[in-house]
Amino acid sequence: MKFLGIECTAHTLGIGIYDSAKGIIANEMDTFRPKPGEGMLPRELADHHARVFNDVLSSALKKSKCKLEEIDFFSFAQGPGIGAPLAVGCSAAKFLALKFKKPLIPVNHCQAHIEIAKKISGFKDPLILYLSGGNSQIIIKEKNRYHVLGETLDIGLGNLFDSFARSIGLEGHGSVLEKFAKKGRYVEFPYSVKGMNLVFSGLLTYAQKLAIEGKYRKQDIAYSLMETSFAMSCEATERALFLTKKKQLVVCGGVAQNKKLQRMLKTMCNDDGVSFAAAPDEFNRDNGAMIAYTAFLMRKNAIEKREKIKDVFPLPNQRIDQIKF
Ligand code: FE2
Repeated sequence: MKFLGIECTAHTLGIGIYDSAKGIIANEMDTFRPKPGEGMLPRELADHHARVFNDVLSSALKKSKCKLEEIDFFSFAQGPGIGAPLAVGCSAAKFLALKFKKPLIPVNHCQAHIEIAKKISGFKDPLILYLSGGNSQIIIKEKNRYHVLGETLDIGLGNLFDSFARSIGLEGHGSVLEKFAKKGRYVEFPYSVKGMNLVFSGLLTYAQKLAIEGKYRKQDIAYSLMETSFAMSCEATERALFLTKKKQLVVCGGVAQNKKLQRMLKTMCNDDGVSFAAAPDEFNRDNGAMIAYTAFLMRKNAIEKREKIKDVFPLPNQRIDQIKF
């Protein structure tokens, strides 16, 4: 059985193909780059995804040596995400399913990040730290549901980094700030953990204020912003590890690509006798393979939604704890 997955929740249009016998056989993507100093406008993301859709689809088919006629299930990221780009992926998936008379499986984007990370780690029952642009959550799976133990009460961790990077004139996504901060030195920052919940917007305001004042180098501010927000994430996660007594931790989502974060979590896990894993970057960034793989799992467990294609639409505010399987 072959599953084609479309990722379209934010800046990346990704198309992946999962073969139930061979595994992931394609994972192609194209990421929107905003103009210098600008953020991501929803309409521009939708335009980008519509523009590159044919090329990304062609390269996924070429890579997998598949024809569209051979795909058994079409799937797409239904939410959470930004409405305009979600609508492009949803429309394309509906069209393909109708044209080739195949079932359509809507997939939760957060669940897809988690499932691919679990598959690659081999962990059966981990605590999950999910950190991306829009989401920052500590999650467990119990009784056919994912439960959120703690989360950001304002902005996502990736959003914090992107917003600060943009305000000091850096172009690109989080990895640019990671490189910029590498040779920084620590300066004191506010620290805000509320049990297993996190608050990040005060750090952004403080970092931007320091950058305007000019007393510290911007590298030092970027370094300290990352150091502090990662330490906060570690503290909340460690609290969840002690509460749940889980012996495995997996980190996933776009921010999980950050090597400093991975090192800090690994050190914490070593101290606590917990196994730690993070997937390769290709599967932590937004990608279509994770959508296709999650559609395969849903089909395997006979839990894919059996809605009529006409009743499927994007759900920008869909939460992981609303998904039952
Ligand atoms: Fe994501």
